[in-house]
Amino acid sequence: MTEAVLLVGGQGTRLRPLTVNTPKPMLPVAGVPFTVHQITRARDAGVRRIVLATSYRAEVFAEFIEDADLGIEVVIATEEEPLGTGGAIRHALAHLESGPDDPVLIFNGDVLSGLDISGLVEAHVRSGSDVTLYLTPVDDPRAYGLVPIDADGRVQAFLEKPSTPEEIITDLINAGCYVFKRSVIEQIPTGRVVSVERETFPGLLASGAQVRGVVDEGYWLDLGTPLAFVQGSKDLVLGHAPSPAVIQTGDSLILSGSHIADSACVEGGSSIGRDVVIEADANIDGSVVFDRAVIEQGAQVVGSIIGVGARIGAGCELHGVVVGDGAVIGARNELRDGARVWPDIELPPTAIRYSTDS
Ligand code: GDD
Ligand code: MG
Repeated sequence: MTEAVLLVGGQGTRLRPLTVNTPKPMLPVAGVPFTVHQITRARDAGVRRIVLATSYRAEVFAEFIEDADLGIEVVIATEEEPLGTGGAIRHALAHLESGPDDPVLIFNGDVLSGLDISGLVEAHVRSGSDVTLYLTPVDDPRAYGLVPIDADGRVQAFLEKPSTPEEIITDLINAGCYVFKRSVIEQIPTGRVVSVERETFPGLLASGAQVRGVVDEGYWLDLGTPLAFVQGSKDLVLGHAPSPAVIQTGDSLILSGSHIADSACVEGGSSIGRDVVIEADANIDGSVVFDRAVIEQGAQVVGSIIGVGARIGAGCELHGVVVGDGAVIGARNELRDGARVWPDIELPPTAIRYSTDS
């Protein structure tokens, strides 16, 4: 039996204001909290027990897990103060039941991927490594951990979020899933903040530990930014990203209790939550609309995220925007490219909508 730790304690700052009320892994993606996609993928790969390493808004996870039946034992470990990625893994150790040489899977809580999880564990066990990292190539690696490997897959360095061009020595990045030999987790210091990326991995390499990388070029996405969040949701709805928690794929996903006017259009992999109202002639394209939101007549919502109970006024045009829970956007407003509206803010209606054609 393989056990896993899912790191879900971060503040999700890049997804504010959505993460003001809800931690990032609990935001709904294609109809269920994002964490459900990861938990069910781990379950289907043979993981029978998963520890949720929580900190920020831990109670939201606890409430959800209490009622959920995900076909896998889920245990919650909560850090009083966030201990960083390495500190969180060390803290979760007390909840693991495996033996000293057993493999323990670690997942970042915001990664959607097509990784062959059991294949990664097998590669780890076969090679007898201390740690095995899932790596993936990306076009621009600067926002990630760079992990150069040699021809045998041995990791040569770990460069977290490099700041100079000289440090960009590979396009292979840490894709946010590792297998640790349990005894290696025991070596992480307790009771203080530890970054697995900045401290543990470089330390293991310096001490000559066997750290290997397994490259997988399949689907991979970190949902940590609004653009990526929308992309991941679309990919799940359209069937481009794999998840056992998506029952049916198609052009859109509309949950129960929502009312979509006949003349409204919901397309491009959009996901509509529960009890949403979409009025006549509105167009929702490649967007995520959370529960109880209202999109009034003729509004255009493209590549955007609309928070719980938010109201988008008639004739509004939203493009690449994040609207917080309960916010009200008055009629005919136009918001674009990265605009964020804080929860419960009310924007007054505008008299006319300016044309963007010229
Ligand atoms: N329990 C706990 N406690 N979890 C934490 C803490 C903490 O103090 N800090 C962060 N996490 C969790 C986050 O919730 C998230 O799921 C995961 O750790 C990674 O944190 P992010 O904030 O998403 O990091 P990142 O995306 O900038 O970088 C990480 O992921 C990249 C791949 O997506 C790093 O691991 C990079 O090396 C990697 O390339
Ligand atoms: Mg991330």
